[in-house]
Amino acid sequence: MARALTLAASVIIFSFGFVLLFGAPYLPTMKRQVKVAIKLANLRPGQVILELGSGDGRVLIAAAQAGLNAIGYEINPLLFLYSFVRTRRYRKQIKVVLGNFWSQSWPKCDAIYVFLLPRLMSKLEKKIRSEGLTKVTVISFAFKFSDLTPVDEAQGIFAYRLK
Ligand SMILES: C[S@@+](CC[C@H](N)C(=O)[O-])C[C@H]1O[C@@H](n2cnc3c(N)ncnc32)[C@H](O)[C@@H]1O
Repeated sequence: MARALTLAASVIIFSFGFVLLFGAPYLPTMKRQVKVAIKLANLRPGQVILELGSGDGRVLIAAAQAGLNAIGYEINPLLFLYSFVRTRRYRKQIKVVLGNFWSQSWPKCDAIYVFLLPRLMSKLEKKIRSEGLTKVTVISFAFKFSDLTPVDEAQGIFAYRLK
C-alpha cells in the first residue's frame, strides 16, 4: 500500500513538475474569468479557438457551450486524460491533443487563448508570427505582450491583434 501511494505521488509530482521545463505550471483560469475570456475572443458560432496549455479543459468546455469549436494542447498527461474524459460530451466540437505546443504546427484558428508566464510572451508572439496566425485574436490571461497594445481588456484578461 505504501509503495502504491509513493508511486502515485511520484507520478503526480512528475506530471506536474516536468511541465516547468516547457512552460507555465498548472493554475486554472477562474470560472467567471473563463466567460470573460470567451467574450473577449468575440467569435461567431462555428469559429475555432486554440488553447495553448488547456489544463483541466474548462476553457474548451466554455467555448463549446458558446457554440465554438475548440482545440487544446496539454503537455501534462494527467490533465490531458482528465480533460479528455471531461470534454467527451462535446467531442464534436472539442479536440484535446497531448503534447508540447511549442513543437507543434498549429491548426488554422480564429482565436488563441493562453495563460502562460511573462517570460514566455515574446516567444509566443514569435511563434504566432511564424505560424502565419497574425490575423487571429490572441487572448492572454494576466500577462501582456511587451511591445503590443491590447485592443480590448477586462478583468485582467487582454485581447490582442498582432497585425
Ligand atoms: C497556467 S495553466 C492554464 C490552464 C488553462 N489554460 C486555464 O487557463 O485554465 C498552464 C497550462 O499549460 C500547460 N502547459 C505548459 N507548457 C505547455 C506546453 N509547452 N505544451 C502544452 N501544455 C503546456 C500546463 O500543464 C498547464 O496545464
